[in-house]
Amino acid sequence: MKHFLSLLDWETDELRAILDQADRFKADPCERRDALAGRSLAMIFQKSSTRTRVSFEVAMTRLGGSAMFLSPNDLQLGRGETIEDTARVLSRYVDAIMARVFDHADLLALTAGTVPVINGLSDLLHPCQALADVLTLRQWFGNEQGIDLAYVGDGNNVCHSLINASARLGIVLRVGTPRGYEPDQDIVAAAEAAGAQLTLTNDPVEAVRGARAVYTDVWASMGQESQEQERRRVFEKFRVDDELFGKAASDAIFLHCLPAHRGDEVVDSVIDGPRSAVLDQAENRVHTEQALLLALLGQS
Ligand code: CP
Ligand code: NVA
Repeated sequence: MKHFLSLLDWETDELRAILDQADRFKADPCERRDALAGRSLAMIFQKSSTRTRVSFEVAMTRLGGSAMFLSPNDLQLGRGETIEDTARVLSRYVDAIMARVFDHADLLALTAGTVPVINGLSDLLHPCQALADVLTLRQWFGNEQGIDLAYVGDGNNVCHSLINASARLGIVLRVGTPRGYEPDQDIVAAAEAAGAQLTLTNDPVEAVRGARAVYTDVWASMGQESQEQERRRVFEKFRVDDELFGKAASDAIFLHCLPAHRGDEVVDSVIDGPRSAVLDQAENRVHTEQALLLALLGQS
């Protein structure tokens, strides 16, 4: 049984097959309307979500199945039942579990069950987002392979999954972060061992110069709200404004996983500008997740 906790769990041809199927779903969302009839997805959210929650629910519906939203406060999990016991019990009811957690180890604990576990974001990784991001590059440029992508900001979960996307899907990635906010060294080492084409710098201009796509994320992720003021000071030079975006290639697109803190990591004129692909990214969540669910559950 396969889980989807990290892009590195899957081979390049498997991920490309998901992207190909996602392209077909984009053209015809109901192409496989009964593929998961009678199947259910449990969705556990330790943190807020707009895109992940709605896109997974819609994806299951388009495949003929159903999804249920479970907050830890409504589950016995909130009263001390273990994650492992929760997973084993849910596995008797549902066909897959998608979870958004703080600690990545909670996702590993969920694999104590007998159904596939999907990472709907942990503090370490956000692989579902990266799938949608790669589909977006493919749609704007015809192919993701060899595309120069600059990520500027915090070396966080979103950045880590882009690093893994470089390893598996041939994106050429330059990451620009302030000192002390670089991506996790183990993530970098594993991705480089798997073939990632990756440059790390502390200079935002060096990261962005000539890139075909410029990506940023919030400076304070969920759970880091108390560091907001400090981070605002540290990340000041990493704001994607017209000047920084202007260093990218003339046909560059702007990417952001959303939600955005406008005025912090990106200004309105860039995120609302003609080269912004952020709504395509958000839409592509549903197409890629529909394809992922079909790959995980469609054959059994
Ligand atoms: N990009 C993303 O995962 O959005 P949500 O937090 O709204 O799910
Ligand atoms: N890095 C952000 C991504 C939100 C989708 C966070 O973890 O809050």
